[in-house]
Amino acid sequence: MKVLVIGSGGREHAIVWKLKQSPKVTEIYCAPGNAGINEIAVGLDIKADDIEGLLKFVKDNRIELTVVGPEVPLEKGIVDEFTKEGLLIFGPQKSAARLEHSKIFAKDFMKRNNIPTAAYETFSLNDKAKVFDFISEAKYPLVIKADGLAAGKGVIICNNIDEAIKTVNELFDDKIFGSAGENIVIEQFLEGVEASVFAICDGTDYIVLPASQDHKKIGDDETGKNTGGMGAYAPADKAVSREILDKIKQKVIEPVLKHMKSEGNEFKGCLYCGLMIDKTGNPYVIEFNTRFGDPETQVVMPLINSDIADMFVASAKGSIGKYELKLNSNFCCTVVLASTGYPDKYDTGKEITGLNEISNNAVVFHAGTKSADGKILSNGGRVLNVTGISPLGLKEAINIAYHNAEIINFENKYNRTDIGLKGL
Ligand code: AMP
Ligand code: GLY
Repeated sequence: MKVLVIGSGGREHAIVWKLKQSPKVTEIYCAPGNAGINEIAVGLDIKADDIEGLLKFVKDNRIELTVVGPEVPLEKGIVDEFTKEGLLIFGPQKSAARLEHSKIFAKDFMKRNNIPTAAYETFSLNDKAKVFDFISEAKYPLVIKADGLAAGKGVIICNNIDEAIKTVNELFDDKIFGSAGENIVIEQFLEGVEASVFAICDGTDYIVLPASQDHKKIGDDETGKNTGGMGAYAPADKAVSREILDKIKQKVIEPVLKHMKSEGNEFKGCLYCGLMIDKTGNPYVIEFNTRFGDPETQVVMPLINSDIADMFVASAKGSIGKYELKLNSNFCCTVVLASTGYPDKYDTGKEITGLNEISNNAVVFHAGTKSADGKILSNGGRVLNVTGISPLGLKEAINIAYHNAEIINFENKYNRTDIGLKGL
């Protein structure tokens, strides 16, 4: 099978790495890829959101399966375009991908179908007076969210009315998120433990991959700015017990599939449930994404033993119920090595050393890297994902990740020092 993976981050490197283990997969291409991906797959000079370019490549080269990593091509309707041409592609159609690219669509969908989520109100740019009335009477903290895609930055937690006024002005007047912020959701602040659960769906049926926990903030102990994710671990059995997982299936995943289908937006692909588990073990949806998480994928892929090419095909073809998911009993922790300054301004182009010296129970998934003159250089905010894998326990997986994170160096390297500890 000839496979194309779309994207260029650590998530896509982990997907390509896992696909590489499939005896059925003969060739892997990645658009556009990065320095690490391009060592094990053929990197293409096609942007992840160049739907026309991707379609042409797939047709010209008789690619048999396309796997979409990031959200933007889904919002642009890549799955609709490929499906029209009879091509096999893993991911939801544009109308179903609204669960991620319109927070208002997702919240209204959950409300009308009784899926547990924070209480909320929606507002548009024209309702500025209404917003100010609302925030002057609201209880704090509260959460303000841009309706559209904002590269993971569109959520602002406001601790008091002054912060809320500032946020609304930035969204509506300064347009910090452009048109993505012209409509907003204001919701209740939820307390509890966060977890990520990926359901691989075929429109009707689904399987669930091991739960994981991301570490969103730039600083240790969840301090400082929100980022795309600074590390993750899996399985997150302490946060998501078997009993809690059953509730997530019954109260979230199954109603999503049932009602998306009955409303004409059949959901295929990866339903990423971003959840808050409250004190009593009840799950609430913080957000849906309609693709794999990054960096969670980097700790979930190493736990799968069955063939993921088969899993992607089964999702696209509507036969996930027949797919036999096999997991191993490893523990996995990934530490993101970032460029100092991320998530704001940072320098790139720094030479990375030590990549050939890592231990054999670790895998390094590249994110923002490029190769030049035989060297590997940093090329983004999040640069590498150093992943420790151990059958002995989470503590060992964490130690392996940090031991190897020390071996790798580049100027301005920054990482959190507490990834995975909340799972111990
Ligand atoms: P999102 O981009 O929707 O994942 O939100 C980013 C982060 O903001 C989440 O991972 C949570 O930590 C936090 N967050 C979002 N919505 C809420 C909420 N209603 N209550 C508490 N925290 C939230
Ligand atoms: N890990 C957060 C995300 O992928 O959106």
